[in-house]
Amino acid sequence: MISITDFREILKTYIGLDIDTISGKFLENFILERMAKFKMSESSQYINLLNESPDEKQVLINESVVHESWFFRHSGAFTESMQYISKKINENSSSKFRILSIPCSKGEEPYSMAILLAERNIPTNQYELIGVDVSDNSINIARNGVYSKYAFRGDEIDSHMNWFHSSDDNKFKIDKCIKDQVNFKCGNLLDNNFLSTLGMFDIIFCRNVLIYMGDSTRLQVLKNLRHILLTNGLMFVGSSEVVLTTKCGFCSTNKPMSFGLISTNTSPTRLIVNNKNKTKHLSRILDKKINKKFRISTGLPQNSKRVIEKNVIKQKELPKKKIQKIDLSEVEHLANIGQFDAAEEICRNFLNKNPSTAKAYYLLGLIRDAKKDFDNAESYYRKAVYLSPDYQDALLQLAYLYENQGNFQLANNYKTRAKKIKEKSQISK
Ligand SMILES: C[S@@+](CC[C@H](N)C(=O)[O-])C[C@H]1O[C@@H](n2cnc3c(N)ncnc32)[C@H](O)[C@@H]1O
Repeated sequence: MISITDFREILKTYIGLDIDTISGKFLENFILERMAKFKMSESSQYINLLNESPDEKQVLINESVVHESWFFRHSGAFTESMQYISKKINENSSSKFRILSIPCSKGEEPYSMAILLAERNIPTNQYELIGVDVSDNSINIARNGVYSKYAFRGDEIDSHMNWFHSSDDNKFKIDKCIKDQVNFKCGNLLDNNFLSTLGMFDIIFCRNVLIYMGDSTRLQVLKNLRHILLTNGLMFVGSSEVVLTTKCGFCSTNKPMSFGLISTNTSPTRLIVNNKNKTKHLSRILDKKINKKFRISTGLPQNSKRVIEKNVIKQKELPKKKIQKIDLSEVEHLANIGQFDAAEEICRNFLNKNPSTAKAYYLLGLIRDAKKDFDNAESYYRKAVYLSPDYQDALLQLAYLYENQGNFQLANNYKTRAKKIKEKSQISK
């Protein structure tokens, strides 16, 4: 018998993994298999082996990580990278740039960049692309450049398939001219010495790994990466990881669905103030661009919004209750710029601490509505109305939802209810 918790500290120290984010059972079975292979009965024996053998440590690391990746995954990041590169070349046609993909898994991410650069005919001596991952198995696959069909599940891949050569066994080999553009290395995001050997970068992709780490490790990783990102450089994280980054010197580039960040020298308090200004600016753009029905709104009168903004500036002085409002205004901001996963994550964290907040359910409803997940949207709006029966905006959203489903009777009921609440509030003013 082993206890998986014995391995919690080990994996956290090796690669920053928080084992609660993965299937502990799967890991436990793997460790039992390894112990059986070495005829060990106690987990302490296997832990001793891990301490003595770098090869066994690597075997455990390879098995513990989530390798999931695909070509042109969340393509907004690639679009924004190419815009950044075009601008740099326009300013100075001979300027060189360096791009790092860490973690790169089996190479799908850096190869996607290499394909775009080739399609734009950017000379290969003008850029350097490096892919790093802690799993040596993944790095070997990346260097080999042969993929199964699962690597091609992104929407954008179809127009780039001419860079792959299919074989009889349903595998696809990446063209040599793309393969030659990426330099792969095995390395660890926690290893500052290793990172400093890589030099400085214009663009860093660090996507879909922070979610497997605990808070302190995420902060350490972001700090490490900030040191190797050039001033005015771009960094990309995963859709649900943006939130974490504003705490350590990054702010969003506000490009929809890219999850791009720029490094800033301002302190975290200053960053929140910047966000406030951006929210205002974005609201103006969104007023023009987005169909009002799907627009995320706090459902509060204008002057309440101003109160929230004032609170943001004076955050440190405020009692806890008002800081909660700030968290939800961040949800609104992220949702307005299309960062739905990040917005949803903050909302859920908020609800864990404040389970009876009608507004949080209402915002979750709007996020789900925007993602066209109407079943969940309906149940979130209903929860908001259950907690706050006079919640006019939630009632109206339910009315819209039922109207779209053709259930006009129910839609009218909710509209009438919302109207009555509006009239009541006008009389009481
Ligand atoms: C889910 S994949 C993400 C790959 C790619 N960035 C993407 O978004 O598609 C996560 C990768 O992180 C790697 N990884 C985990 N911990 C790491 C660490 N401490 N240093 C470097 N790579 C790590 C894993 O080996 C795995 O390949």
